[in-house]
Amino acid sequence: MQVESHTQSAPSDKPTEATQEREVPRRKGHWFWGSTIDFQNDQIAFVQNIKKEYGDVSRTRIVNSDWYFVYDPEIIHEINVRQAKIFVKPKLAKMIWSLFLGPTSILTQQGAPWDRQHEMIKPGFHRFRIDAYAPVMVEYIQRMVSSFKDGEVRDFREDINNSALEIVGKTLFDTDMGGDTNVVFDAMHNISEMLVEHINLPLPTPRWWPSPGNRRKIGAIEALEGVITRLVAERKSDGKDRGDLLSTVVFAKDENGVAMNAQEVRDQMMTLIFAGHETTAHSLTWAYYLLAKNPDKAQKLYEEVKAVVGDRPLEVADLDKLPYLAQVVKETLRLNPAVWTYMRAPTEDVVIKGYRFPKECYIFISQYVMGRDERFHPNPLKFEPERWTREYERNLPKGSYVPFAAGPRVCLGQGFAQMEMKLVLGTLIQNVVSRLADGFEPDFMPELSLHPGKRGLQTKVEFRADAPLRKLQA
Ligand code: HEM
Repeated sequence: MQVESHTQSAPSDKPTEATQEREVPRRKGHWFWGSTIDFQNDQIAFVQNIKKEYGDVSRTRIVNSDWYFVYDPEIIHEINVRQAKIFVKPKLAKMIWSLFLGPTSILTQQGAPWDRQHEMIKPGFHRFRIDAYAPVMVEYIQRMVSSFKDGEVRDFREDINNSALEIVGKTLFDTDMGGDTNVVFDAMHNISEMLVEHINLPLPTPRWWPSPGNRRKIGAIEALEGVITRLVAERKSDGKDRGDLLSTVVFAKDENGVAMNAQEVRDQMMTLIFAGHETTAHSLTWAYYLLAKNPDKAQKLYEEVKAVVGDRPLEVADLDKLPYLAQVVKETLRLNPAVWTYMRAPTEDVVIKGYRFPKECYIFISQYVMGRDERFHPNPLKFEPERWTREYERNLPKGSYVPFAAGPRVCLGQGFAQMEMKLVLGTLIQNVVSRLADGFEPDFMPELSLHPGKRGLQTKVEFRADAPLRKLQA
């Protein structure tokens, strides 16, 4: 590995005057393909190693662009919050996402169109709206647990993905997906595969390429579009705000009294279905895994839930009284963040802490690497929910813990996701002992989200003796 220059930035670094520029160390990699192959071979190892070897800010060529890897929380905070106006989603992210989220998705828009959409969709994520989804979340997860049989081995990733998708269906469309469930499931699986392929191939096949794989995936997108179109038409003719996100998107008006057009409605619904289930499902998969690996923490969580909630179903009002549950969620998002990375690009040349980031360069931020940085989290590989005291959080440098990003482009579904994670975990721990199947260890696949790969998360169902849902089954 060749180093052109190496300026390791230690945590004690003082901000450098903007005028005192320092060179961004460059990993040269291969003369022809730069770091493309190394990155693709093992992305998690790559993003950790580049930090170890080149420090908090470095750059390297991937495919035909320079990527900047940033692990300095102060710079991350500048990008997310203080200078957010000049940072947008890079072209690559837009290209990948717009394939199926569409050209007007809130995830990839910027400038005035994003402002407008954000204002229109945000009310759908208002606390009182989200709180109203709590009973649905609990009901669907109870349904999932009730279908378990004591002693059987199940893929928790698959179970929780299905339940999270059902929850999104009900909360987005106020509908049991019913006959559409399989269409939506198949479509989501196919679309996820397509996105992963596009991310992994240096030169992805274009959407119009008539390969059988492409035809299948386009078919999946069209099937999902069909469901959305029908539900939107039904809602429009019904004309009632049913308190779900579909109503928000369909009936919202901008400051000029103009509603979203058909393309915009389609793109936002696609975005919310997608952003709303896989991320949460994989975060829950890792929470379940970490609890299984740390039975003492799982027992502590069980005791808290038992003491506060007893045998009745969890309610949103319980959550404030369950501090350990909140700590477990925070710790999971630190150690195994399902959204393990995101990217930004400056719209103009910018110098931060002396480092120059050229216009439109790709800036790579990794929650995974930041969460495992021992400068911020002592004993970082230990699952230690107790660390999340108020003081601990207060002392964390801004930009060092950003599982939902931060600033104006922070995750819109943050409150939704945190509530769902708590209600689901609380319900699970009331009923079952989190256990992996004998000898099973998952893989770690950093794709669209960090997930356990094709083998899933094989778990062994062990109902608690006092499980409320077991009593119901008996
Ligand atoms: C634990 C679960 C979740 C995690 C870790 C997560 C994380 C993130 C992150 C890191 C971003 C920024 C991505 C970027 O800038 O490229 C984001 C954006 C977004 N998320 Fe989430 N998310 C989660 C769940 C949800 C849910 C449940 C919804 C909706 C129901 C949602 C909707 C969105 C939307 C709409 C955006 C785009 C916001 C914008 O660009 O203005 N997310 N999420």
